[in-house]
Amino acid sequence: MDSFEIEGGRRLSGTLDASGSKNAALPILFAALLCPERLTLRRVPRLHDIKTTLSLLEGVGARVEREGERVTIDLPQFTSTEAPYDLVRTMRASVLMLGPLLARERSARVSLPGGCAIGSRPVDIHLAALEQMGAELRLESGYIVGSCPGGLRGAEIVFRFPSVGATQQVMMAASLAEGKTVIRNAAREPEIENLAGFLRAMGAKISGDGTSDITIEGVARLHGCDFEVMFDRIEAGTLLLAGPITGGSVRVRGMDTGCLEAFFAVLRKTGVAVSAGEGWVEASAGGSQCADFETQPHPGYATDLQAQMMAYLAQVNGVSHVSEKIFENRYMHVPELVRMGADIRVEGPQAMIYGKPGCYQGAVVMATDLRASASLVLAGLVANGTTRVRRIYHLDRGYESLETKLCSLGAAVSRKPE
Ligand code: EPU
Repeated sequence: MDSFEIEGGRRLSGTLDASGSKNAALPILFAALLCPERLTLRRVPRLHDIKTTLSLLEGVGARVEREGERVTIDLPQFTSTEAPYDLVRTMRASVLMLGPLLARERSARVSLPGGCAIGSRPVDIHLAALEQMGAELRLESGYIVGSCPGGLRGAEIVFRFPSVGATQQVMMAASLAEGKTVIRNAAREPEIENLAGFLRAMGAKISGDGTSDITIEGVARLHGCDFEVMFDRIEAGTLLLAGPITGGSVRVRGMDTGCLEAFFAVLRKTGVAVSAGEGWVEASAGGSQCADFETQPHPGYATDLQAQMMAYLAQVNGVSHVSEKIFENRYMHVPELVRMGADIRVEGPQAMIYGKPGCYQGAVVMATDLRASASLVLAGLVANGTTRVRRIYHLDRGYESLETKLCSLGAAVSRKPE
């Protein structure tokens, strides 16, 4: 298990390119299961979760070729309809195989993902929606076993919560279902629009993505296409924070401000100067004031940027209040940030950050999940002395060559085998 060693206290500045989005690429790769023709995907990030997904696709018979950020997938015929536990347990998004398998092959055997560090994360909304579309589902030895001998049919589905994954699941399943499906209270994340764009490029009939009501008219067959994955807005937000937290300035190219407005609003409140031009955004150190925020479904503040912003707020002036509204256990970075010198108190879903400039000292800390790890790296960049972030396999799941990118901005981060 590798760790990162970070020599803190260097001012970071420069320009970087955003990678393709993990959370857009994963559902798009699963949507490839719907198509019997050759597909080409561009800007697919080189990440561990992507490798796992490609193995899942190969496991059901897909021919996959990968060259840098370009992936081609050919799945004229299935050799299996199973997503095995050994792969699913490392990546919860694997449950997104269920809808496409049922839609195209009318049967599926997908391991039930367990809980994860950030909460219990049930998939009840996914399952209820697929049942409403005619799937018969049962739990058998830890697997969701599904069939729909007559095929899936369209339905009006009302979500109790705008789940990102469940919205993607239904969009994929409904693309090949008979008749019309309407999703009410759908998630509005930009990654949903990106998936809809891919499904449309394959010939699906979808409208309303980006709003709370998405309509899908099922078609009999989808066709091959060439499609580019959107930029990773969570990676971009993390890299932009690396500028102001170290008193510097970072510009990220290949992105736009549209999908991170709530994040930029909080940054501006703290005094950071955020500017944008054609295809780039820049964040530069400015004032140093506290700011409150709560995580919410899009267009609210993204939960995936909560830990990183907390690392930043711990070293500004004043008391910031944070409320985590999406996951019940997403403060696992807090005890580690506290070990580095932050003053943060958590009560249930609320956190109070007593900010103090210069609070961080280097320490050996342990990464617990992907975004928690990113917050520890940010704290390490500004800490006095050396920080060692252990278990960075979490980071490798979601950040492409993070150490290389940070070093190109002037950071001293190296990967050490343990
Ligand atoms: N939920 C249910 N039942 C369901 C589905 C979700 O109760 O059937 C609950 C979850 O337990 C959670 C909340 O609803 O408390 C939000 O879950 P959602 O389904 O919206 O999230 P997800 O699809 O599982 C994706 C991202 C997450 C990101 C969330 C929220 C991917 C692969 N994952 O997860 O990304 O935090 O949306 O924006 O797209 C990450 O990248 O670090 C990450 C965790």
